[in-house]
Amino acid sequence: MNDVHHRLFEALALTTVTLHRKVTERIERRARTLSARNHSRAIGGRMGNQSRDGAAEHKLVWPTGRQPLRGRSEHMKVVDDLLLGLRRGRGAVLLIEGPPGIGKSRLVDEVRLLAAGAGAKVLWGNAYEERQAVPFAPLLDAVLRGDHPVYDEAVLRDLSTRADSQYWVVHDLRDAIAAIAASTPVALSIDDIHWADTATMMALHALIAGLGQLPVLWTLAMRSAGGRPEARDAIDTIAGAQDSNTHRLQLGALDAEAVAQLAGDVLNVDVDESVLRLAATAHGNPFLVVELLRGLHEEDRIHIARGCARATGSNLPQRLAVTMERRLDRLTPTARHAIQVASILPNTFSAALLARAVDQTPSRVVASVDEAIRADLLTEDGDQLGFRHDLLRRAVQLTIPYAMRRAMERESAGILLEMGASAQEVAIRLARSADVGDLAAVTALREAAQTLARSDASVAADLSRRALDLLKPDDGTRAAVVSETVVLMNQASRWGEARQLATSTLSSDLPEEEEALIRLGLSMASTNWAQRVAENRQALQLPGMSVHTRALHLSWLAYNLALDGQTLAVRDAALTALAAAAENDDLEAQMIGEVALASVDAVEGYQQRSLRRLADMLPHLWSADVGVSGLVVAAAYANALVTVGRLDDAAATIADGVINTRRLKNTAGEQVLGTVNALREFAAGNLDAARTIIANLLAEEERLRADLVRGRVGLMLMGALAAHTGDRELSRDVGIAARAALDGGPASRREAIAVLAHLAWQRGDDAEAARWLGEDVEVLTTPMWAVDVDHVVLAARIARTSSDAGLRQRVLGAVEALERDGMVDDVLFAVALHARGLLEDDAEALTKAAAVLEFSERPVLYAGVVEDVGHSILRGGAHESAAERLCQAFDLYSAHSCSADAHRVAKVLNGLGVHRRIVRRREQTGWESLTAAELRVLELVADGATNREVAERLTVSPHTVNTHLRNIFSKLGIHSRAELAGLVRG
Ligand SMILES: Nc1ncnc2c1ncn2[C@@H]1O[C@H](COP(=O)(O)OP(=O)(O)O)[C@@H](O)[C@H]1O
Ligand SMILES: [Mg+2]
Repeated sequence: MNDVHHRLFEALALTTVTLHRKVTERIERRARTLSARNHSRAIGGRMGNQSRDGAAEHKLVWPTGRQPLRGRSEHMKVVDDLLLGLRRGRGAVLLIEGPPGIGKSRLVDEVRLLAAGAGAKVLWGNAYEERQAVPFAPLLDAVLRGDHPVYDEAVLRDLSTRADSQYWVVHDLRDAIAAIAASTPVALSIDDIHWADTATMMALHALIAGLGQLPVLWTLAMRSAGGRPEARDAIDTIAGAQDSNTHRLQLGALDAEAVAQLAGDVLNVDVDESVLRLAATAHGNPFLVVELLRGLHEEDRIHIARGCARATGSNLPQRLAVTMERRLDRLTPTARHAIQVASILPNTFSAALLARAVDQTPSRVVASVDEAIRADLLTEDGDQLGFRHDLLRRAVQLTIPYAMRRAMERESAGILLEMGASAQEVAIRLARSADVGDLAAVTALREAAQTLARSDASVAADLSRRALDLLKPDDGTRAAVVSETVVLMNQASRWGEARQLATSTLSSDLPEEEEALIRLGLSMASTNWAQRVAENRQALQLPGMSVHTRALHLSWLAYNLALDGQTLAVRDAALTALAAAAENDDLEAQMIGEVALASVDAVEGYQQRSLRRLADMLPHLWSADVGVSGLVVAAAYANALVTVGRLDDAAATIADGVINTRRLKNTAGEQVLGTVNALREFAAGNLDAARTIIANLLAEEERLRADLVRGRVGLMLMGALAAHTGDRELSRDVGIAARAALDGGPASRREAIAVLAHLAWQRGDDAEAARWLGEDVEVLTTPMWAVDVDHVVLAARIARTSSDAGLRQRVLGAVEALERDGMVDDVLFAVALHARGLLEDDAEALTKAAAVLEFSERPVLYAGVVEDVGHSILRGGAHESAAERLCQAFDLYSAHSCSADAHRVAKVLNGLGVHRRIVRRREQTGWESLTAAELRVLELVADGATNREVAERLTVSPHTVNTHLRNIFSKLGIHSRAELAGLVRG
């Protein structure tokens, strides 16, 4: 590479461009042939141009608009094939790769144009380095764009703050795209995907897999190197997936002929050898070819005669030969400054933002912008400005001294925030540019980290870590930021780093109050129960902490002990905590203490007292001075309501909690409420919904780990789901996880044993089930969770046929505890009756229990007691009425996806000569084919409700309603709401 060339690439910040000597030679050869023909024949393919016929030499008018695509015919064959497939209903992934300036974006454009021409719905977005901390940024750009966006911005705003936003966004997008794709092919492209955020990549992965059967063409453009390694890995996963139908296009240098064509297009006339020889120095990189021609034009070195362009001189045009610095020198000082400032702004920006950043009125900045456009640096797209190519932007950035660039970047972040940008949007900018002691940056980084925690814990941890680094050593918030960072690192499974940060901070000579605060943060948010307890205990050794911090440690100790299942220690700990809280009038500490005490009440059978204790705290739930305590109470209260079977009340508490956690931007809290919500769905007999929530709320590696805070509910629920549905794979996974959890704290052990017993019993292995329950006394303490309620019945069923007298005694003990505080018509009392009926062969008790559960909100519990009533009648010999009851149980189980239970009942029915089969496949069309959800939508729509109203009534997104409607239409073979209303009335 010659010297000029070298400088050229350096000036443009190009790092990887291969030298294509062969290309150069070919261009030269081609040029010779051309001149041999004495310029008689044009390079084919261009539209005629009047100037070609003109004999006089004239000046070139620089063309505007898009030039034809050159030299990519092989690539376009692939594109054409994919578009043909798309029209025929086949989806695909097109991955375009290459170095900067090689024409990736241009090719993406071409795909978009052709797809639109072929009648596809076209969606597109662009990933940017800066927006890695904004979940879904490029994807949402794509679906929010245009007059008929695919997605509703209001819905989005609502979703994006949720802990499970990832799930909902993907869910809604899948619905929305599927709805369009049902009638129109979709072409969705994302440029510069190597910068995409994690949420976007996960969503793409899920969407591409989930919509594989539909006509959707995904076009993704990516640099050959650089960007975020995570994004590149995700691309590899997507491309490597089975039946992903992925096509990879590598873009290399344009060949000599294409360069000649491109030059001809740009100059709008044929070109001669002199132009081609110069163009060859761009080594087939179209960006550089265009740059070079512009430079020649700028220097008046292109002359057109007889329809052919000739270049004078053999040296490179100044604009390529000199650094960007000297190019800028040719501008007026104001324009030069404006362009430099612009290079620090986001990739696209408004004139108003630029005006603010250069501290001028918008009208004054217009002159500078015009100058920059004339100098080919900036372009306009609607009301947004941007650099013509990212390479130019980088080159301009390099003209600014580093320290200065950072200062400007920091300043721009402030302006962006003032102009309404979110903390996430400026986070990367702040992380790069802020200096130690910059508290505004620390606040924004912490906020961004908390919001991002759910969708990308790892980036969130990095931002939090950066916030920590920006704090002065003596800053009072250091302890809080350390614990936030440690928690995020744990959440991102960066355990080692988390431990290191925690121990190094704790081992440095911290004031005791700070150490206590760090330990408090860990005790509230660590993933592991035993570790939480240890943090509290260690902190309580510190005499120097404040009274408030001490009170909090005492109550969190009680709470953590309760959830670790160290039941015997909880009451004392809770009472000590409440006394300390009372002494200091400390509501925040009191609330946690009350939650701990409420759990003791519940375990001892005083469910009503437990509920009252929590309810007393409700008025203070969201007051400013109680911190996360309000959320803990809300979650505990909602959980207690679920446990006693008051599911509607629980739903209201959860909804209220979610609103408040969003207000407080507490994503971890929302996750807790999410798990309670999964328990509620389970209790309501919506097993699939419970499974979906857990699967989307908890990462796979923590989902079944009872020693982890979140995994507890996961294991418990998945265990119940595995047993009820008979899902083999899930049963196997759950079985392995439960055995591992046997070594955990008492509560993990207890749940694990119950899960193992349930699985064994469901397999028909009563002996093994009895063995499990025989192992551990604690397993039959009274319920803390909805799933435990089911375990009481399970234990009674197992004890009934077992010879283990001790087991029977323990079940009776649990039953008595349940009856202790129960009211005659509540679920727990009915469950006690059910269990007693089993143990004492008391038909009347069973019938009574059934009568109560029939009108409860717990259909699967009801199915269970109906089944046992059936067995009891059967033992009495009344086959016919026994069969009737068993059929009823069978139907109930089937309706709630409890296939394993239904099978068990079907076997007994078989023996009675009644043959029932579980119907898996629904009818595909007609009224019978409508699902329960579709029927609900149908009812409301037939009543004249709009989609939005239906969405509100059913608390789903409008898109979901839309999807339901489409399905209803296609199942019923109709096309409009009017027809639907007619059908319903008719
Ligand atoms: N095959 C091509 N034919 C004509 N012009 C092209 C071609 N490829 C790229 N260009 C032009 O070259 C410039 C750089 O291309 P671009 O698509 O932005 O590159 P990349 O996205 O790979 O960095 C643009 O002005 C584009 O219009
Ligand atoms: Mg590009």
